[in-house]
Amino acid sequence: MTIFATQQVRKSFTNGEVSEEILKGIDLKLEQGKVTSLVGASGSGKSTLLTIAAGLQPASGGQILFDGKNMTDMSAEQVRKIRAREFGFVFQSAHLVPFLTVEEQLFLMLEVSETKMKKSGQKKEVANMLELIDMSHRKDAYPASLSGGEKQRVAIARAIIHKPKMLFADEPTASLDSKRSTDVMTLIRELTKTLNITTLMVTHDEEMLSFADHVVTMKDGLIE
Ligand SMILES: Nc1ncnc2c1ncn2[C@@H]1O[C@H](COP(=O)(O)OP(=O)(O)OP(=O)(O)O)[C@@H](O)[C@H]1O
Ligand SMILES: [Mg+2]
Repeated sequence: MTIFATQQVRKSFTNGEVSEEILKGIDLKLEQGKVTSLVGASGSGKSTLLTIAAGLQPASGGQILFDGKNMTDMSAEQVRKIRAREFGFVFQSAHLVPFLTVEEQLFLMLEVSETKMKKSGQKKEVANMLELIDMSHRKDAYPASLSGGEKQRVAIARAIIHKPKMLFADEPTASLDSKRSTDVMTLIRELTKTLNITTLMVTHDEEMLSFADHVVTMKDGLIE
């Protein structure tokens, strides 16, 4: 089932008097519970497409359809709610809050996503998630004392603790070595399957493509 689609999405940037069209009409369909990898040369517009799909910046034209709704017709507040409740994000570096423990990062996300749950339920969710990412023993640690791979695992947990329908990831393994990259990708794939999340992921790394169900290549502002 297609849960997310872009139709003829366009994006232009204006620098001074010169306007350049980076996305020239992107049609993308994402199947529920699948991992789709977005590849293409540097500057081909992968991050731009990902952030537009995730509602983090507007398109210049075209439609974005999510779960039977047209996000292009929504107010900023409606898009904000969807972003907070139904989407999760992982970036190149973990961007954890330095003064919160591993466990507190996850509780914070439950607050931000306005997840309606009693304190006892929240505690259970967080404990389960820490178990899933194999970080229970580090729940009271601060980011400064975590390895790169551990930080990224916490970032992934934080991105999905509120059980979003979509996960958007921009080069989540770029700051990791090969072994840790494989671990992080295995985790993303497992969690996507277990929780039936639909994942769109930008990657540079050919080795990581084996973790994807579909691979989509961008070239000259279009999907090949
Ligand atoms: N806010 C902006 N203003 C002007 N130009 C921009 C802006 N954002 C992106 N661009 C330009 O759009 C093009 C595509 O950028 P984008 O970041 O989407 O590429 P990418 O495929 O993610 O590249 P990389 O693999 O290097 O991360 C680039 O030429 C970039 O300079
Ligand atoms: Mg990019």
